[in-house]
Amino acid sequence: MNNFRFRNPVELLFGKGQIACLKQRVAAGTRVLMTYGGGSIKRNGVYDQVMAALSDCEVTEFGGIEANPDYATLMKAVEICRHQKIDLLLAVGGGSIIDGTKFIAAATCFESDPWQLLVGGAKVTRALPLATVLTLPATGSEMNCGAVISRRETQEKHSFGSELVFPRFSILDPEVVYSLPKRQITNGVVDIYAHTLEQYLTTANHTRVMDRWAEGLLQTLIEVAPRLLGEERSYDDCADYMITATMGLNGFIAMGVDEDWATHMIGHDLTALHGLDHGVTLAIVFPGVMHVMRREKEAKLLQYGERVWGIREGSTDERIDAAIRCTETFFESVGMKIHLSDYGIGEPTIRTIVERFRQRGWKLGEHGIVTLDKVEAILRHVM
Ligand code: NZQ
Ligand code: ZN
Repeated sequence: MNNFRFRNPVELLFGKGQIACLKQRVAAGTRVLMTYGGGSIKRNGVYDQVMAALSDCEVTEFGGIEANPDYATLMKAVEICRHQKIDLLLAVGGGSIIDGTKFIAAATCFESDPWQLLVGGAKVTRALPLATVLTLPATGSEMNCGAVISRRETQEKHSFGSELVFPRFSILDPEVVYSLPKRQITNGVVDIYAHTLEQYLTTANHTRVMDRWAEGLLQTLIEVAPRLLGEERSYDDCADYMITATMGLNGFIAMGVDEDWATHMIGHDLTALHGLDHGVTLAIVFPGVMHVMRREKEAKLLQYGERVWGIREGSTDERIDAAIRCTETFFESVGMKIHLSDYGIGEPTIRTIVERFRQRGWKLGEHGIVTLDKVEAILRHVM
C-alpha cells in the first residue's frame, strides 16, 4: 500500500426530508447565493423545499448553469458575489452545478485572471464557503474538492482542486432520484463505474481493503442499475445508488492506491470538442483503455473479471477479453453506445486530442504508463 494522507471534512445529511435541515444549518439573515441549472428543481419540488427552509435568509438566485458548466456563465456569478457580499454559496443540482459553484467560490476571492486556476496551475488561497443539495448522484462532487469547468469559447474542459472548496455540508435526499430522466441514470451509472475503475484497475495485491470496497461499489451498481432504469424506482435502490456515487469519488477507495484517470482526461476532450455527455465519453473510452493496457493492467483485470463477473475459465487473454466484453455489455445494457463512430467522430478528433495532449506535456495513467502512442491506440480501438 502506498503512503497516504486522508482528510474529508464534508458533513453528509442523508435521507428523506433532509432538505429541511437547511434551516438549522444556515443561520437566519445569512446572505445566500443559491445556484442551480436549467429548472429541473422547479419541477420536482426541490426548489420549494430549499426556499421554505431558507425563508429567514437573504437569498439571491443564480440559475441557468449548464451541464458541463461554462466559464463565461460562472464569471457572471462571480460578479454578483463580488458586489453583493455573499456569505454562503448553496449549489442545488448535479455535478455541473456543484463544480460550477466550487469555481465561483474560488474565483470570487482570486485576485488575478481566474482562468489561471484551471490552466495556469494557480493555487486557491481563499474561497467563499459553499454547501450543496445534491439532485443527481454521479460525480461525487458533493463530497470531494475537485471541479471540472468547460470553456465553450475555446472548446476546452479543465479541472482544479483545492481543500478550500470542500462543501461545508451536503444534503443527500434519495427521493431526488425519482425525477431523473433515464439518460441521467445511464450517465450516472457509467460515471460511478468509471470512477471506481480509475482507482481500482491499476496495481494488484497492495490494497486489499480498498479493492473490496471498490468491488462492492461495482457490484451494487450492477445490481441496482436495471431496476433504476425499469418502471418503478424504490427508495432503497435510490438510496443505495446515491451513496455508491458519493463513495466512488470521495477519497475513500483512493487511500493508498495507484490511480489511473486516463479515461477521464480523454473523455473531457471529447466533451469539449463534441459536447458529448461526460458519462457517454467514459462508456466509449474505458473498454479501449482495458484493451490497450491489458499487459500493464493484467493482474488487476483478471481479479476484476473473477471477483466482479465470476470469470475463472480460460487463458489469461481469454479471461481479459471476457472481462472487457462484460464491461461493454453492461454499458450497453444501461443504454450507452460504445464507439466513437456512433457519434460521427473519427480520425480528425483523434489527431486533435493526441496533439492537445502532446502540447500539454501530460503524463497519463498510473506512473505515466498511458503514453501518447497508447492514447492514440485507445481512440483507434474504440472508433
Ligand atoms: O439543469 P437542470 O434543469 O437542473 O437539469 C439537469 C441537467 O440537464 C438534470 N438534472 C439534475 N438533477 C435532476 C435533473 N433532472 C431531473 N431530476 C433531477 N433530480 O440533469 C442534467 C445533467 O446535470 P449535470 O449536473 O450536468 O450532471 P452530472 O452530475 O453528471 O455532472 C456532470 C459534470 O460533472 C463533471 C463532469 O465533467 C461534468 O462537467 N465531473 C465532476 C467531477 C467532480 N467534481 O469530482 C468528477 C466527474 O468525473 C466529472 O468529471
Ligand atoms: Zn466522471
